[in-house]
Amino acid sequence: MAKRVLVTAALPYVYAPRHFGHLAGAYLPADIYVRHRRLKGDDAIYVCGTDENATSVILEAMRLKIQPKELCDRNYVIQKTVFEKLGISFDVYSRTSLPIHFETVEEFYKTLYNRGFIYEKNIKQLFCPKCNTFLPDRFVKGVCSYCGAPDQYGDVCEKCGRWYDAWELIDPKCAICGTKPVLRESIHYFLKLSMLTGKILQYVKLKGSNWRKATLNKTLSWLLKEGLKDKDITRDYDWGPPAPFPKAKGQVIYNWAENLLGYISATKHWAVEHNKPEMWVEYWKKSDVELYCFIGKDNLFFHTILFPALLIAYGDYVLPENVVVSEFVNLEGEKLSTSRGWVIWLHEMLEKFHPDMIRYYAVVIAPEHRDTDFKWKDFQAKVNNELIANLANFVNRVLTLLHKLSNGIVPEPDELNEYDKKILSEINRTAEKVMMEIERFEFKKGLKEIMKLSSLGNSYLNVKTPWNDADAASSTLYVASQIVYAISILLIPYLPFTATEIRRMLNILEDLNSVRWNSLKEILKPGHRVSKPRPLFRKIRDEDIVSEINKLEKLRIKHEIKTGSSRSH
Ligand code: MF3
Ligand code: ZN
Repeated sequence: MAKRVLVTAALPYVYAPRHFGHLAGAYLPADIYVRHRRLKGDDAIYVCGTDENATSVILEAMRLKIQPKELCDRNYVIQKTVFEKLGISFDVYSRTSLPIHFETVEEFYKTLYNRGFIYEKNIKQLFCPKCNTFLPDRFVKGVCSYCGAPDQYGDVCEKCGRWYDAWELIDPKCAICGTKPVLRESIHYFLKLSMLTGKILQYVKLKGSNWRKATLNKTLSWLLKEGLKDKDITRDYDWGPPAPFPKAKGQVIYNWAENLLGYISATKHWAVEHNKPEMWVEYWKKSDVELYCFIGKDNLFFHTILFPALLIAYGDYVLPENVVVSEFVNLEGEKLSTSRGWVIWLHEMLEKFHPDMIRYYAVVIAPEHRDTDFKWKDFQAKVNNELIANLANFVNRVLTLLHKLSNGIVPEPDELNEYDKKILSEINRTAEKVMMEIERFEFKKGLKEIMKLSSLGNSYLNVKTPWNDADAASSTLYVASQIVYAISILLIPYLPFTATEIRRMLNILEDLNSVRWNSLKEILKPGHRVSKPRPLFRKIRDEDIVSEINKLEKLRIKHEIKTGSSRSH
């Protein structure tokens, strides 16, 4: 039976573009998963959008000397375009600056307030006497008092993921002017997280057995070892949805307390765009919906604890079935640093490389269970030696042989021998394996199975040498054609552009969105005519990556001079 599935990926901060690590860690796995569910015939939608109410927007706009709104508009378009070019199949790419989001947040927090989950309290807050402003979140920087990481913002440590209060930072400094802040009083509104601990624990115990080990362990340790403290969810500035509480005039809802609701408002946005404004309810308030959230590990706490807490407090919302959390992708052996330029921006990578090359490598080094490393040489090698030399080459060989030996027509097979039959059964086995791995969120393993099938196809051709053996040629070409046909379906979640191109060459003119896994049970019938092959990719030459490598090498030297460090390699 068709199931209703809602897939979300972390709403990108709008102040900067997205990089390769983001793709490999969230947007691509979510895309593979949702495409898989669509192929199964499920009613699956994928929602996302920009996270626009963060303090980072204001700081970046200050730095660029433009209005925050202008920065948002500009980057929204950049992000949306990049995702489209990469074939990320969002059903909607919304924005948390839209009225629909503000209304959602207002209604949500009014309800939480009425249900007794919010209270007010006078607290001391960091205040910059020079800038004459409170310093929440990104307006302050200091050392994390939990793990000692330097240069952390006032709300969450990017190193250990801990969510803390700004005054807990060691040696805090105003992020705008560098002044040491003082403490000042203000009334804030608090979420009764402590009261919700038991319910969250119950939820995690119920669903967590299917989560990745690290996700479950970290979540449990937060819940059990540290326990949850009530947290203030209002802020004294005016960028974001207003806090709908009695004495909260001039305050907004804290970014991490409102952006998560962006998944809901994005779904509403989608429903409105499809002229069925009430439809969002079907994806959020019906018990048979499956909700999957894809994120990087820096967002863990907010998705496995805060988000469920908010939804539980409100009542009648579905909770995530799974929060699929990735580790990080490093770059040439070092941690990413956007401020240093030590990063691969997707929009830049797309200028040079085919989107499916990027998708391919992003799966191959997906940080599913541990941090991985992007290396330009490795990117070139994986693309050239695997994607091209194995897969693209196999497709090309089969189509070329069909034209050379069979007038471009899939032949009627003679009697199939054991070897032929074994190969045909491998197709089915592979298909089952691929689906199973995707279902377990083991995307890398799923893709490996497809590559194994194509490499099996290559050796099959080498063994059978249909070009030398006219007798066996028809069976061989028939079997090889079925492999190509299966690959053209199996690749859809992973490499949609390539799947489309192969299907075009096979002369199957069906729209990709109407293809189902069931089509794997069909075959390319004898007598079917295929088109002339065209190369799927152009090899990555040394000169395509050398400038990238040089750029990083220069950055490395610059950094070494600056920090006085030297590395032996
Ligand atoms: N903007 C955050 C980031 O890019 C992710 C927010 S996910 C949300 O890391 F759901 F909370 F919005
Ligand atoms: Zn820390």
